[in-house]
Amino acid sequence: MAAEGVREIVLAGSKDRDLTKLAAYRAIGGYELLARAREMAPQALIDEFLAAGVRGRGGAGFPMGRKASFLAKGTGKPTYLTVNADESEPGTFKDREIMFRVPHRLIEGCLITAHAIESTNVFIYIRGEYLHEFEILRDALEEVHGAGLLDGVTIVLHRGAGAYICGEETGMLESLEGKRGQPRSKPPFPAVQGLYASPTLINNVETIATVPKILELGGAEYAKLGVENSAGTRVFSLSGNVVRGGNYELELGASLRSLIYDLGGGIPDGRQLKAVIPGGSSVPVLTADEVDTALDFDSMAQAGTMLGSGAVIVIDDRACMVQLGLRVAQFYMHESCGKCTPCREGTRWLVQILHAIEDGESSQDELELLLDVCDRILGKCLCPLGDAAAMPVASYVNRFREEFQRHIDEGGCPYGGASSLDHVLAPVDQHTGTPVPQEATA
Ligand SMILES: Cc1cc2nc3c(=O)[nH]c(=O)nc-3n(C[C@H](O)[C@H](O)[C@H](O)COP(=O)(O)O)c2cc1C
Repeated sequence: MAAEGVREIVLAGSKDRDLTKLAAYRAIGGYELLARAREMAPQALIDEFLAAGVRGRGGAGFPMGRKASFLAKGTGKPTYLTVNADESEPGTFKDREIMFRVPHRLIEGCLITAHAIESTNVFIYIRGEYLHEFEILRDALEEVHGAGLLDGVTIVLHRGAGAYICGEETGMLESLEGKRGQPRSKPPFPAVQGLYASPTLINNVETIATVPKILELGGAEYAKLGVENSAGTRVFSLSGNVVRGGNYELELGASLRSLIYDLGGGIPDGRQLKAVIPGGSSVPVLTADEVDTALDFDSMAQAGTMLGSGAVIVIDDRACMVQLGLRVAQFYMHESCGKCTPCREGTRWLVQILHAIEDGESSQDELELLLDVCDRILGKCLCPLGDAAAMPVASYVNRFREEFQRHIDEGGCPYGGASSLDHVLAPVDQHTGTPVPQEATA
């Protein structure tokens, strides 16, 4: 099958053998780069990260080397590395595969990065539901400890308790400190005052698992992978109306069409592609006409959307975009931490208005009100959670306006309401937005 852009770096070697054990990882050269890194000056490592141009894989895409170089020096306080393994953006399931397939690559990345930022304290904040991944990482850490590879570095695995906001970096820091997970106002940024008010580098699992390869190739060589401004590979989580969902690691700049049709096997049941969410539920949607947009940061920005967390959700022509907007808004309403008003109140307004449109109980005014509420959320919240609700909803209205109009004109949903998404997403309770256990829907 001709599949464009497949290139395994983060997941390399893990499909045909079990790399979870230390001996297996060492057999493919694991931890040799750590030894090399420890002979290098920390700044020389940061220079490699800068030269690699690797951008964060958690969502915002901030250059990793630059973030590391912002860390405050000479504060007299310890420097922390915190790895974000919360992975709660709907549609995203790549970090879990990295953790259960190549836990040692993540640990090696942590130890190299810790050396680069002169830290001996690492926290991995892992999504509470990821018990299997937690156990694999815990066992891997025990082996690393037993083999004397930690060399004075402490790596703490901290299990989250199931809140989307704890994936937001400052919410995660609060949670790690034992407080309620709510975002902090910035500045000060974590690089200056992060965990325990100390300089802290926060990176996503995939970003840190990329570090050994950067060192192996050298930053300048790594930067040649992918396309300009989007160096390296990303693990894309493909789901929704596609024959072969799953994680696919591709060089950045690869074709979205090829991911969906060549690797993913296209749309099942002879249906037509209607829309694609290219970076997790919080990003603006693309229409079927935009399926040739390349999978890189700049191409997505030009198309008015984002690569986000790398979760590609495929939507076929059975789905109702109003219902999709409602489901997305319900999720963010449920997860809003309540600390700031535009997010707490705005997400509730979105749900209410979308319910009215979906149920055929709205007028033209409410469609405008919906866009107005989105506008009053966007960029006005303490953290980007509010934007995560407003951006997709506004994009559904702007790109599928005739569909919203039909709901108003015809007094209800022409697509069969909630069931129109049964084949795209897991079912949720229509009033609370919480997932319905599978057995209850059977
Ligand atoms: C509401 C919200 C939830 C987030 N959830 C996650 C998450 O689950 N995992 C993650 O890596 N980043 C998440 N992020 C992004 C983090 O705030 C942060 O940018 C990221 O962990 C930095 O790592 P990176 O630079 O390697 O991408 C979230 C952001 C927001 C606003």
